[in-house]
Amino acid sequence: MRIVVVGKGGREHALIRSLSESPGENELFCFPGSDAICELAQAVEAEGLQDLVDWMRSNAIDLCIAGEESYLLKDDGLANLCARHGIPCWGPPKEAALLEGSKEFAKQFMERHDIPTGSALVVESAEEARQAIGENYPTVLKFDGLAAGKGVAVCSDEESVESFLEEVYGQKRFGEGSLLIEEYLEGPEVSIFAAVSGRGAVIFTPARDYKLIGEGDTGANTGGMGAVASRQLIEPALMAQIEKEIINPTIEGLADDDLGYVGFLYFGLMLTRDGPKVIEYNCRFGDPECQAVMPLVSGDLATFCRDGAKGNLRSELLSFDEGWSVGVILASAGYPASSRSGDVIEGLEAVEDARVYHAGTRLNEAGQWETNGGRVLAVVAGGEDRESAVTKAHLEANKVDFDGAQRRADIGRLHFE
Ligand code: AMP
Ligand code: GLY
Repeated sequence: MRIVVVGKGGREHALIRSLSESPGENELFCFPGSDAICELAQAVEAEGLQDLVDWMRSNAIDLCIAGEESYLLKDDGLANLCARHGIPCWGPPKEAALLEGSKEFAKQFMERHDIPTGSALVVESAEEARQAIGENYPTVLKFDGLAAGKGVAVCSDEESVESFLEEVYGQKRFGEGSLLIEEYLEGPEVSIFAAVSGRGAVIFTPARDYKLIGEGDTGANTGGMGAVASRQLIEPALMAQIEKEIINPTIEGLADDDLGYVGFLYFGLMLTRDGPKVIEYNCRFGDPECQAVMPLVSGDLATFCRDGAKGNLRSELLSFDEGWSVGVILASAGYPASSRSGDVIEGLEAVEDARVYHAGTRLNEAGQWETNGGRVLAVVAGGEDRESAVTKAHLEANKVDFDGAQRRADIGRLHFE
């Protein structure tokens, strides 16, 4: 099978690694890819989406896998373009990807299908936002569009609200768009991933990510500093409740609304005292959760995605390890406010008992790996119990270093001990 994976980060490196381990003769391509991804897949030279899809058609591509969300919403939408050219695509059409692309669309979808979530109001100006908030703190402000994880502010007072309103309406940092004022929810967070095709769904191993830069969940929000994954993260009774109240109504709702959902669907949940509630949907796998989950998945991911893309979800093609997996992110100096490129990465060859997925790296002229972005690498280790996976992940991650490297020593520990 000839497969193109779209994206260039750690999540795509993990997906491509799993595809490369799928049985059968698979030839892997990536767009745009990265130096590390190109060790497993060939880069496609294309100028934009239409060019990419034309290339896929003339190169007899059997499957396109959407890793990153932006392409699903760009121009006519990656999946829509693939459909027009008869190329199976593991990723939803633009109309369905609005579940991630528009917070307002997602909120209306959940209300329409009775899916538990925080209540919310849509406002169009700073003044309307102030009125909607009143004296209700903490409160949550969400910009209604793709904002690379920066469009959400959990505000405990008027000062933090004003500073976010200044970003949204003063600096127009995210461009034009509405704002959602959402009820503040409290509880542990968990990410659930389902592979969806029409009314079928296969639930992957749940995960929890660590979003803040500092230990003890302090400091600025990031793309994710680590993740832990295991079936054991969620008790069977709670998982049954999540399936009944959230996953099943979402899958049925997508089908009833004729949205033609295909691909990974990410449920960001808050386990509140009143039960699990949806914080957000993402139309893709999580990053860095994917890096933690993938080592627990075995079987034929390539055929699973290809058949799923054609409407035939075959759960028997995959199996999930019952153990634990922990991924520690190494980020570059300055992250998340900025990032520093060009720091040489040492110690990669010393990692023995873990997987290393590259996100922001490149090969320099001397053939050394160096930093090239904010989140640089994920070092992922597994174990039968959480403690052994955690110990191994940190031990292996500590073998890798570069100038200014930032990592959290509490990944897999905080929230569990
Ligand atoms: P999102 O970009 O929607 O994933 O939001 C980023 C983070 O903000 C989430 O992971 C939560 O930690 C937090 N958050 C989002 N919505 C809420 C909410 N309604 N109540 C409390 N925290 C929230
Ligand atoms: N780990 C959070 C995300 O992928 O959005």
